[in-house]
Amino acid sequence: MSADQSTAETTAPRPVPETAFERRFGHPPGLFILFFAEMWERFSYYGMRGLLKLYMVNYLFITVRQVYQGKGYTGAGDPDTVLGWGFIKGLLPAVDPATIQKCVTDKAAKLAAGNPSEGVVGLAADVAQKVAEQTCAASSSASILYGWYTGLVYLTPFFGGILADKLLGQRRSVVVGGVLMAIGHFVMAFENMFFPALLLLILGNGCFKPNISTQVGNLYAPGDPRRDGAFTIFYMGINLGAFICNFVCGTLAAVYGWHYGFGAAGVGMVLGLIVYLIGQKHLAPDLKMKGASGSAEKSSAESAAGGSEPLNKDEWNRVGALIVLCLLNVVFWAVYEQQGNTMQTWADEQTNWPKIFGFQIPSTWFQSFNPFFIFLMAPLFDRFWAWQAKRGQEPSSVSKMAIGCIVLGLSFIVMIVGAQVVGSGKGSLFWPVFCTLLLTVGELYLSPIGLSLVTKVSPARIVSMMMGMWFLSSFVGNTLSGYIGALYDKMPKEGFFLLLTVLGVAAGLAMWAFNKPLKRAIGST
Ligand code: GLN
Ligand code: ALA
Repeated sequence: MSADQSTAETTAPRPVPETAFERRFGHPPGLFILFFAEMWERFSYYGMRGLLKLYMVNYLFITVRQVYQGKGYTGAGDPDTVLGWGFIKGLLPAVDPATIQKCVTDKAAKLAAGNPSEGVVGLAADVAQKVAEQTCAASSSASILYGWYTGLVYLTPFFGGILADKLLGQRRSVVVGGVLMAIGHFVMAFENMFFPALLLLILGNGCFKPNISTQVGNLYAPGDPRRDGAFTIFYMGINLGAFICNFVCGTLAAVYGWHYGFGAAGVGMVLGLIVYLIGQKHLAPDLKMKGASGSAEKSSAESAAGGSEPLNKDEWNRVGALIVLCLLNVVFWAVYEQQGNTMQTWADEQTNWPKIFGFQIPSTWFQSFNPFFIFLMAPLFDRFWAWQAKRGQEPSSVSKMAIGCIVLGLSFIVMIVGAQVVGSGKGSLFWPVFCTLLLTVGELYLSPIGLSLVTKVSPARIVSMMMGMWFLSSFVGNTLSGYIGALYDKMPKEGFFLLLTVLGVAAGLAMWAFNKPLKRAIGST
């Protein structure tokens, strides 16, 4: 779990007075406000992310469109009316015609055949050809744009933290972020405003995400043992939002049309804002620039303010070790983020989804497996590590992260086998779901552990800058994931998944190789 995401203990306790609520539930009410606000924010973020790639390739960037997610191509549209598309298209790498041709041949045949079991009628051969040509041409662009979007949302938090420290304070930053994101989601409903909507979401997330996390830490005085548990609960909120959003947004997009799905994401964000505004009085006061905080995610500006002494040799070693880890971490996120990208495409195109009571389950529900498994497994791993610790066998943080990378890589072996078994048709849900189960184990070994490590190892006065660097590795990794995803149509699927396996395992082994020098630099954390 993101257990000790917040262990950067410094000064300036700002405990919220203990209340009857606190005595009863063990945590201050502010935690539950932040829990639900973040739950709804993540609901909106992941609800929209689940639709994003499919929306681009099956609707926005083609002229014969799927009006309802996953249904037949019945609408007419014009991608050139999407504001900025002409310009952005020019920035994206050209796809070679042979790649498109291979994709077109496969896809046109499938579209002409339709999918009677899911109630999708086949298209006339010429229409099928046209749709296939456009979808295949758009596919790598969509993958790259997806990567840039999911990347940039992790670049802006670095600046969002600074903005809060220098200018607005956490509360106002969170509100500004929430408003920007809500507007962004609603603007998505106007299809020609797609890019401005993404920009609003990127900026909004930058203001919201780091500062709401900071506020979790601020509820507790330094050294308060409940803090780790608080972050665990907060992380559950993230994943609860990520879990339920697809049932709402994905379902609305399939039944009423894409824009209802995006609209629902916007409603989620508004609910988050309402929770946040109503709960204001339960939150800790904003941190001032000069005051140090108890949170790991304060900005670099604040850290800089906290101390201007140059780093000594030992501190440089620790910073160097973190930089090496963050660099390797980039690979983890580049592979991990295929979840919403190529794995979502697989879930959509090559997976048979069951019907429940006559209702055809939309492929976007796939996105809910990862948060579901987090829910299921996070407490188990917490206990497992505690059990290992008692026997003196708990792996060090670096070892855990290396295991995380390796498990992430190995999870795609499931897809290599799946690609063999399924061929070019549709196959069992087992493949993407089992892959996701293993991938989630990898996530639990790396993501929260890494956050915790950053706060433990970083010299206290630059902990936020280091945390910003942690987020920057998500930025680079996620952006890269788009470029890696663009290979999906170029290679045999087995080859593509093998590439993911190799990348994950290689990054893990590299971490392992650095284990000794890293340990020497950072101690036995
Ligand atoms: N899934 C987590 C979240 O949404 C962490 C993602 C990340 O750090 N890249 O908060
Ligand atoms: N697993 C993703 C995160 O932890 C959704 O939030």
